Amino acid sequence: MRVFVTGGAGYVGSHCVKHLVAHGHEVVVYDNLVYGHRAAVPGNVRFVKGDLGDAPTLRAALTTGPFDAVMHFAAFAYVGESVTEPLKYYRNNVANTLGLLEAMHVVGVRRLVFSSTCATYGVPDRVPITEFTTQNPINPYGRSKLMVEWMLQDSARAWGLGACALRYFNASGAAADGSIGEDHKPETHLIPIVLQVALGQRPHVGVFGTDYDTPDGTCVRDYIHVDDLASAHRLAIEAIRPGEARFYNVGTGKGNSVKEVIDAAARVTGRTIPSDPNPRRPGDPPVLVADGDKIRRELGWQPAYTDIEQTIASAWRWHEAHPNGYEA
Ligand code: UFG
Repeated sequence: MRVFVTGGAGYVGSHCVKHLVAHGHEVVVYDNLVYGHRAAVPGNVRFVKGDLGDAPTLRAALTTGPFDAVMHFAAFAYVGESVTEPLKYYRNNVANTLGLLEAMHVVGVRRLVFSSTCATYGVPDRVPITEFTTQNPINPYGRSKLMVEWMLQDSARAWGLGACALRYFNASGAAADGSIGEDHKPETHLIPIVLQVALGQRPHVGVFGTDYDTPDGTCVRDYIHVDDLASAHRLAIEAIRPGEARFYNVGTGKGNSVKEVIDAAARVTGRTIPSDPNPRRPGDPPVLVADGDKIRRELGWQPAYTDIEQTIASAWRWHEAHPNGYEA
């Protein structure tokens, strides 16, 4: 297939691009490089620097196809910032996705895989979370992603869009060959922060909340390897049909606490990782773990990484070799 990838220079997007190319798909990346990295896109992939909100540039790029499908990663994803600057999130994640859908409609691209999130569930009433768990997001980021899911459902019915929203749990890890990895500025995610402590770039990791109703008092998350997210995207794009909207959780089904992640990172790196108890971070649900049965059954997807140490080891290879990320 010829696939147009928005946000293909970002963390999850770049791993998906690499995976698609390895599986024989032809890819064009569209990214404004605000958070993405040019170096994360393979040299043999066509790259268009453009903003999702720039309708003429987006349409011009989409008409260079014909494209069989769009994978849409471009979005803002800082939960805390979405609370203080909600309109920024509704503009980029919702309005600009609306612009993308309009452009796809006009140009005649009928397949879309969309990066959704477990943040659309809010604080789930039970775990593991299935696709039938009530979606009740508790921050503008989660709400912006849920709004797009609704647009996809309506577009499938009204004009034959074939859409698949993948609700990621905690994306983590780095490419097995060490060529690309996670580089957010600012970094807020647990695993890269822990590895920065291991590298001596930070003195300690603050543990946000040690009094949750969980086995060790710290939050539990489902850390899904970014290459497993990539294989889910490829299977989704190959499976979707015009006129249908599908929704899948993508996680390992296994939860790890913040303390377990820190301990696993200490074992993987062989370094001491000092940690400090901190107050709870507002908006953090205690436990988010996926029930991944639907995507396994319907798409035949299986995660290759099921052990947190394996995932952290892949991230560590990247961080150790690239202590400043993509900066030389
Ligand atoms: N944490 C710490 N210390 C840190 C950073 C994180 O204790 O310095 C904790 C958090 O409180 C949380 C866990 O580690 O319990 C994981 O935090 P991350 O920031 O790595 O990830 P989140 O679970 O907050 O966020 C992820 C995605 C978001 C998505 C969210 C859904 O990155 O895009 O899941 O809850 F919205």
